[in-house]
Amino acid sequence: MGKTPLDLVFNIEPNVFVSLEEYLRTGGYAALAKSLSQGAELSLREIINSDLRGRGGAAFPAGKKIEMVRGNAETTRYIICNADEGEPGTFKDRFIMTHIPFQLLEGITIAAYLSGASQGYIYVRHEYPEAQGILIKAINQAEEEGLLGENIFGSGFSFHLELFSGAGSYLCGEETALLSSIEGKKGRPRLKPPYPTQSGLWNKPTLINNVETLANIPKIIEKGASWYRSLGTEDSSGTKLISLSGDIKKRGLIEVPFGISFAEIINDFGGGPKEGRKIKAVNIGGASGVLVPPELLDTPLEYKACAQAGITIGSGAIFVLDDTRSILDNVQNRLKFFLHESCGKCTPCREGLRQADIILDKLIAGQAGVKDVDTLTRYTGAIQEASFCGLGQAAGNTLRSSLTYYREEYLACCQENRKSAGGEDLALMEETA
Ligand SMILES: Cc1cc2nc3c(=O)[nH]c(=O)nc-3n(C[C@H](O)[C@H](O)[C@H](O)COP(=O)(O)O)c2cc1C
Ligand code: SF4
Repeated sequence: MGKTPLDLVFNIEPNVFVSLEEYLRTGGYAALAKSLSQGAELSLREIINSDLRGRGGAAFPAGKKIEMVRGNAETTRYIICNADEGEPGTFKDRFIMTHIPFQLLEGITIAAYLSGASQGYIYVRHEYPEAQGILIKAINQAEEEGLLGENIFGSGFSFHLELFSGAGSYLCGEETALLSSIEGKKGRPRLKPPYPTQSGLWNKPTLINNVETLANIPKIIEKGASWYRSLGTEDSSGTKLISLSGDIKKRGLIEVPFGISFAEIINDFGGGPKEGRKIKAVNIGGASGVLVPPELLDTPLEYKACAQAGITIGSGAIFVLDDTRSILDNVQNRLKFFLHESCGKCTPCREGLRQADIILDKLIAGQAGVKDVDTLTRYTGAIQEASFCGLGQAAGNTLRSSLTYYREEYLACCQENRKSAGGEDLALMEETA
């Protein structure tokens, strides 16, 4: 989609692949030079004041996380850029890696300098071979130009960066599973605390941030925290990349300032529903996000307002479902994804999801009753509350929101409520057959 008239952080241009030469010509790496000359304290203050929050899902304040690693007494520290991008319907990090790779490399290098890390890894999704190739080339070029490696810009700061190919598992995007994966172990989540900032890669303090989070950093250092804050709202600063898809006229990646409503995103950028169709539901935040009805679409894209409305911004994926879609089919599709990706370590996730899938099968086949919907609701609570890691907890989100807003559709599938095309009670007909 086209460039917006505003001067934003990413200014998406679909067919433009920014080379190192072009990046340097348009002011690239000025932020790294500025950071190195003004010192880490001042630069870190700028990130903290910008109120940049993690864009990988949990929205943790980025400056605070850097501060935690920086403040650790252990001097061997690592930085990891989480580029696993496994959330279904999300394709924003891929754009950054393939189109503006040096903005990402510069952001990682600044964050490494601020946190005191001298070694870093970009953990890139296995299914992104193109992005991997582009990044490997970009890392080599940056090394050749002295923008990575020993004594960067003659500052005495040295930083080495490597690409690590992901293990092809959604769960490896979870930060502690990702650590195990790099360490050569099974990509299973670890107990938190200790958090990676305390004990991360090889038990050393580690800064883990999402691609989009890190790629924001050069612009914040270059233009300042107040400029960044002015792009968004009092509550949520800056901009957000949105992966927009589903039953709308225009799909694609857009960058929007925080504060815009979901309805504006869908109608102004996505062109609204297709001719003659109506929006039935919108899945916000990817497969692990929530399913919301059209009435909630005036909610602004802001962390606080969304939390109050029960919406998870997550990775920023928005998938629109029109009135031809079945809610149960959509929910089951996502549930099967979680079931496939579950590592099986804990019972609520492993067994809860399996049982939920069986109930959904029965509901869709018209062989379930209202008591099955109640059981599904109970299981959902257990999956959400008792799962060991974010995968199971998020799978519960999907189920819960659909059961809250679309309970009628669940009930309509129940034997007690099914009607034939002629209006006869199907349940009664089956009983008497
Ligand atoms: C199952 C699961 C998968 C995740 N996948 C990703 C991912 O692909 N990319 C990502 O940046 N964060 C992912 N996260 C979130 C990370 O654990 C972590 O919070 C994030 O990388 C921190 O970066 P941020 O503070 O910049 O958001 C995932 C979390 C869970 C529970
Ligand atoms: S919640 Fe699911 S993915 Fe996470 S540890 Fe438990 S079984 Fe594994």
